[in-house]
Amino acid sequence: MLTKKLENEIVDQINFEIYSAHIYLAIANYCADLGYSGFESWFMVQYEEELFHAKKFMKFVNEKGGRVIITGFENPVNEYDSLLHCFETALEHEQMVTSRIYNLMDIAIEEREHATRSFLNWFVDEQVEEEDATRSIIDKIKLVKESGLYLLDQELATRVFTAPPL
Ligand SMILES: [Fe+2]
Repeated sequence: MLTKKLENEIVDQINFEIYSAHIYLAIANYCADLGYSGFESWFMVQYEEELFHAKKFMKFVNEKGGRVIITGFENPVNEYDSLLHCFETALEHEQMVTSRIYNLMDIAIEEREHATRSFLNWFVDEQVEEEDATRSIIDKIKLVKESGLYLLDQELATRVFTAPPL
C-alpha cells in the first residue's frame, strides 16, 4: 500500500506526464508547420515517451492498490520563436520533471517505501537520458547554424536569371 501522501504525489505526476506529452505534441505541430518533418517526428517520439511514462506510473499505482484520477491540463504553449527555442523549452521542462522525480524519491525515502524507491530509480536514470538528449540537440543546433547558412547560401547561389521572352 502507498501512503496517501505518496499516492497523491504520484497521481499528480501521472497528470504532469500527460501534460508533458501535450507540450511535445504542440511543439511537434509547430515544427510540422515550419516544414521540418524530422524535428516533428523527434517531438512525436517524445510525446509517445511521455504517455509511456504516464502509463508506467499508472500501472504502478494500480498494482499498489491506489486510485488514479485524471485531471484537466493547462494549455501547452503552441508558439515558439525558433527550433532552438523549442529545445530550450524542452530542456527546461525536463529539468523540472527531474526535480519532481527527486521530490517523489525524497518522499519515498522519508516514508520508507522501498518498492516505490526501486520503481522510481528507473525514472531517475531516464531523466539523465532525457536531459542529455535534449541538451545535445541544443549544442548541435548551435553548431550547425553556421554550416546550415553555408548550405543555404550554396543553394541560393544556384539561382540564375533566365530572361523571359520580351
Ligand atoms: Fe516523462
